[in-house]
Amino acid sequence: MKILLFGKNGQVGWELQRSLAPLGELIALDANSTEMCGDFTDPDGLIQTIRSVAPDVIVNAAAHTAVDKAESEPELVRAVNALAPAVLACEAKLGRAWLIHYSTDYVFDGSGDKPWRETDPTGPLNVYGATKLEGERLIQAAGCAYLIFRTSWVYGARGGNFAKTMLRLAQERDSLSVIDDQIGAPTGADLLADVTAHAIRAARQRPELSGLYHLVAAGETSWYGYASFVLDHAQRAGVPLKIAPGAIEAVPTSAFSTSARRPLNSRLDTVKLQSAFGLTLPVWQNGVARMLTEILVSRE
Ligand SMILES: NC(=O)c1ccc[n+]([C@@H]2O[C@H](COP(=O)([O-])OP(=O)(O)OC[C@H]3O[C@@H](n4cnc5c(N)ncnc54)[C@H](OP(=O)(O)O)[C@@H]3O)[C@@H](O)[C@H]2O)c1
Repeated sequence: MKILLFGKNGQVGWELQRSLAPLGELIALDANSTEMCGDFTDPDGLIQTIRSVAPDVIVNAAAHTAVDKAESEPELVRAVNALAPAVLACEAKLGRAWLIHYSTDYVFDGSGDKPWRETDPTGPLNVYGATKLEGERLIQAAGCAYLIFRTSWVYGARGGNFAKTMLRLAQERDSLSVIDDQIGAPTGADLLADVTAHAIRAARQRPELSGLYHLVAAGETSWYGYASFVLDHAQRAGVPLKIAPGAIEAVPTSAFSTSARRPLNSRLDTVKLQSAFGLTLPVWQNGVARMLTEILVSRE
C-alpha cells in the first residue's frame, strides 16, 4: 500500500508518521516540502503531487487550526480547510484512492448537553468551523471513498499544548482562571493516529465503511476539569506548584473575550465508530496522564 500524508508536522501528522509507517510505503509532506508540493494554497501543485505519487490512500492532517486568527483571514482558511481537501477528494476519485480527513466538533453550534451524533444538524459558530464543514461536504460530494473523523480538543506530546500551558502558569502565577462551561473530551494525537491506521486497514477490506465518524476519547470534562486533572497529576509527581489543583478559579466562557465564538457542548457520540471498526476508545484521562508522565520525565 502506498500512502501519501499531508501535514506531516502537525500534532496529528507527526503521530501519523509513526502509526502509518508499518502499513506500507509512506510519503509524508508539509507546506515547505521541496521535493513535492504539500502546500494547501497551491491546488495545481497538489494535483501534480498526487498524480506523480499515485497513492492508494491520501491522508490529510493539514489544516488551518488557529481558530481566533481564522476570523480575520477567512479566504486563506477556506482555501486550506475546504478547497484543498476538495482537490484531494477529486484526485482520490480519479485515482481510485481512499481519502482520510479530520474534522471538528466546531461544525456544531454547541447547544444542549447530549453528545452529538454524525446525523445531527450542524451550525458552526466561527470561520474555522464553517470552513471545516464545507471541507466535509466537498469531500462527500466528490464521490471518492473516504473516512472523515470529527474530533475535539486535540493534544500532542510534541510542541505546545493546553496541559503544558497550565503546568507553566501554575508554577509562575499566583492565580489561574479556567473555563468550566465548555464540555468535551481531550483527545491525543497518538490515539487519533492509531485509530486511523486500524481504520485504513479495515476500510480497504470493506469499502462500505466509507463515511463520517466521530472519534474522541471516552468520557467528558470541562477545560477547568482538564486543568485540575493536570495539576493534580503534577502535584502527585512532586512538581512544585504555586497554585494547587483546588485553587483554580472556574469561570464561564464569557469571562474571556476572543475573536471566535466557541461551542459550549463539544461532546461527540462515538458509538458509530466503535461498532463499525470494532474498536474501544479509552477514557481521556489515560492519554492525558501518559502525556504528562512523558513531559515530566523529559524535564528531569
Ligand atoms: N487541534 C485541535 O484541537 C483540533 C480539534 C478538532 C479537530 N482538529 C482537526 O484535526 C486535524 C489535525 O489537527 P492538528 O491538531 O494536528 O493541527 P496542527 O497541529 O495545527 O497541524 C496542522 C498542520 O497543517 C499545516 N498547514 C497549515 N497551513 C498549511 C498549508 N497552507 N499547506 C500545508 N499545510 C498547512 C500546519 O503547518 P504550520 O504549523 O507550518 O502552519 C500544521 O503542520 C485538522 O484537520 C484539525 O482541523 C483539531
